[in-house]
Amino acid sequence: MTAPVYLDCDTGIDDALALAYLLASPLASVVGIGTVSGNVSAAVGARNTLDLLSLAGAASVPVAVGAHDPLVGSFGGGSPWVHGENGVGEVVLAPSAASVVAESAAEMLVRLARLYPGSLRVVAIGPLTNLAEALRLEPALPSLVESVTVMGGAALAPGNITPVAEANIWHDPEAAALVLAADWDVTLVPLDVTMASVLEEHHRQVLLSSPSAVPRALGEMLGYYFRFYEGIYGRPCSAMHDPLAAALAVGAVQPALAPVVRAAVDTSDGPGRGQTVCDMRGLYAGYPPVSGARCRVVLSLEEDFAPHLVETLLGHFERPVAEPAGSLVAEPV
Ligand code: RIB
Ligand code: CA
Repeated sequence: MTAPVYLDCDTGIDDALALAYLLASPLASVVGIGTVSGNVSAAVGARNTLDLLSLAGAASVPVAVGAHDPLVGSFGGGSPWVHGENGVGEVVLAPSAASVVAESAAEMLVRLARLYPGSLRVVAIGPLTNLAEALRLEPALPSLVESVTVMGGAALAPGNITPVAEANIWHDPEAAALVLAADWDVTLVPLDVTMASVLEEHHRQVLLSSPSAVPRALGEMLGYYFRFYEGIYGRPCSAMHDPLAAALAVGAVQPALAPVVRAAVDTSDGPGRGQTVCDMRGLYAGYPPVSGARCRVVLSLEEDFAPHLVETLLGHFERPVAEPAGSLVAEPV
């Protein structure tokens, strides 16, 4: 049974892997994509998303440009030292013939939530500005969606953009605070689990040697990403932040430990700005239930994620594609 998915992203390199993963997953049907400024501007993220969709043979998936600036302040220019100037590791994708749709990302999210009442899965892998705007447009949004999964935050782990803040939350703390305070259950996929889900060079070589253009393009993008993360891990590899959030959102990967806790976001202008303040004091008692807690914080997984990611990508993009009658050879896409 495939679930309708709305993906909100700042297409960067791991966003690209998350999108390719969702297109490849038999559990997901991507019904709409919204972009937001983060790794790159919302407009550049939309360009990257359109081009990857086209390469993947999914150009019909609608893409809406979302918020350029956060709720407070303005877009800071992106993270070229992590994702490249173009956001996808300086890999040049063939330009898609498709264009973005006229509606905003927030308008798309509200429209899709009404179109798929009770079944739309929201996967947010960038700053949360569009989700906050969608909550303003449609206050009943929490009652319309099936689930909300957010790649962001850090519960017990350190931050990555400041000592305590993770990038997606730090880029728009006010939006993140509104999303965590809304009347829905949020699954948070924080650095605690994403930094422990590492893709190694041998995984990347498998992607690079694929007969399909999509895994090869992802492998090329990861070359740039690995150079950044080598400075953190001490070897060529990378975290898999966004594809892990996507896999958890569609139920393809199961958490081993994911307590439901109270969580808030520091929106001060002090050193804690952008921190996800998760009440993890149940740690020593096995995280007993907490009344009023709505935030499920994924801390660890049942199994290693990287093999599943690679197998899912290759299984889909290397599948023989039925050729029109009369042709002799089925070519992988
Ligand atoms: O902190 C990691 C997150 O920030 C990922 O979603 C990455 O793509 C960036 O958006
Ligand atoms: Ca992202």
